[in-house]
Amino acid sequence: MPNFDFLVVGSGIAGLSYAIKTAEHFPEAKLAIVTKSDENESNTKYAQGGIAVVIDQIRDSYEQHIQDTLKAGDGLCNLEIVKIVVTEGYDRLNDLLKWGVDFDKNQQGGFDLGLEGGHTENRILHHKDLTGYEIEKNLLEQIANMPNIQVFSQHFAVDLITQHQLASKNEQLPQQRQCFGAYVFNPFTKKIEIFSAKITLLATGGVGHIYQNTTNPTIATGDGIAMAYRAKAQIENMEFIQFHPTALFHPQTVPSFLISEAVRGFGALLRNKAGQLFMEKYDPRKELASRDIVSRAIDSELKKSGDECVYLDCRHLDQKAFENHFPTILQKVNEIGIDLKKDMIPVVPAAHYLCGGIQVDAYGQTSIDNLYACGECSNTGLHGANRLASNSLLEALVFSHRCYLNSIEKFKKTQMPEDILPWNEGNAKEPEELILITHNRKELQTIMNDYVGIIRSDERLSRALNRLKILFEETEALYKRCKISTELIELRNMISVAYLVVRQSQKRSENRGSFFKIGSI
Ligand code: FAD
Ligand code: SIN
Repeated sequence: MPNFDFLVVGSGIAGLSYAIKTAEHFPEAKLAIVTKSDENESNTKYAQGGIAVVIDQIRDSYEQHIQDTLKAGDGLCNLEIVKIVVTEGYDRLNDLLKWGVDFDKNQQGGFDLGLEGGHTENRILHHKDLTGYEIEKNLLEQIANMPNIQVFSQHFAVDLITQHQLASKNEQLPQQRQCFGAYVFNPFTKKIEIFSAKITLLATGGVGHIYQNTTNPTIATGDGIAMAYRAKAQIENMEFIQFHPTALFHPQTVPSFLISEAVRGFGALLRNKAGQLFMEKYDPRKELASRDIVSRAIDSELKKSGDECVYLDCRHLDQKAFENHFPTILQKVNEIGIDLKKDMIPVVPAAHYLCGGIQVDAYGQTSIDNLYACGECSNTGLHGANRLASNSLLEALVFSHRCYLNSIEKFKKTQMPEDILPWNEGNAKEPEELILITHNRKELQTIMNDYVGIIRSDERLSRALNRLKILFEETEALYKRCKISTELIELRNMISVAYLVVRQSQKRSENRGSFFKIGSI
């Protein structure tokens, strides 16, 4: 049974930046990073646009970034948290620079600041259109040089360990739950092992794959949220799924390839199939309105016209400058035969970001003692009903720092139990047919796409819930009789998370930000 002082689940920006700080602070402590795929596979790796930070206090101001965040969040942001994230951003940016992350500069030698939807000023630091890749690479390089961190790639966290998994559990359980680590599936031994730790951080990212069309890589199945939910942590704001307006419309590319919002910030225009501009009908900020507004505008155009996609027009832009800023996007569209000088890029909205998640306080503490959550899996109050573009990398950095500050104190006060029960495998057998899992995953994704998309209704939500109940029962039956596989645990987690999205959508009684329900409201 591996024993650690700190257990980090997830190797995106949230988990890695937390691990670096904590390992530096406690050189004697043992840290484990458990991550279910290759160590760099994460939403972080694919971030294109960049990170929003106020660095130019003459043209820009904290107050402006705060107001932009509040406006995008449509009245549901937590003002205290917004202020914290915006004003602490500059120090966290300096952490990234210290760790070797390189951001593009302009001709004057200052940072080249991009513009994205909902921002009233250029404030997006970026590394071409590969910002996330640059961040992930440098953070992993730091980790590789830290002897007290052990990275367990291809290891899958299955469930949290709380008092309920102690041999002494029959004694009076305290009211407040406490976390002592996690059960982790080791694919090499095919066993579920105990990874015990005084402090556990969930940094498991988003939920994009509960939808058929998503910009997220396949790791985004909401595992951390489902684990926390099973352990009875508080989960909030799951109804606020952000759809990115401009995913490349190319059904052969799965997951969908993102055409960064920064491309619209650079001057690209949205047109319908007839070649008409349409955004001015929906918002005076046109292409640079916040994402919820642009996604709904596109959805409405597509419903009216019956077309499959709209188009992003870059033909009028400086092609050399475009190539310099967006080399990856250019390469991808060229690969599928699009010449930006002559052709427009076909785009559709796709599930992109979860604004809610595991409820945390201003220091990333969940409602379970010794359990922290950070990054996309958490609900800090920053995003409210809709995240402002490029605020999530920023949020992950600010909160991983705050989790670090709080958890190093908590660590000193924590005693570990010695009677954690091993995982009970019972009489589980190998699953007879994988189709029972793969079909249900596809069915779940179709249900969510068709009934729980950009525009929802009570009828669609109740149909979704009925169908989810069937998937839930079938999957629980499989789970009880079959040996664990990553496919089965992911499916189980995706069903839980989809259920939370649907139930919390049913409960919301007003349209806000990325949540829009027709009919009964
Ligand atoms: P992730 O980076 O997703 O990392 C999650 C980690 O958890 C992964 O390593 C995963 O393997 C691991 N994991 C998950 N479940 C388990 C499990 N059960 N066991 C073990 N490990 C597990 N945001 C911005 O601010 N700016 C941008 O420009 C931007 N562009 C984006 C472009 C794309 C295409 C996408 C998809 C997102 C973009 N975002 C952007 C959003 C941003 O990238 C994410 O919100 C952020 O990177 C999330 O970081 P994270 O550390 O919370 O999670
Ligand atoms: C993008 O580059 O459009 C994504 C930015 C984000 O999700 O914040």
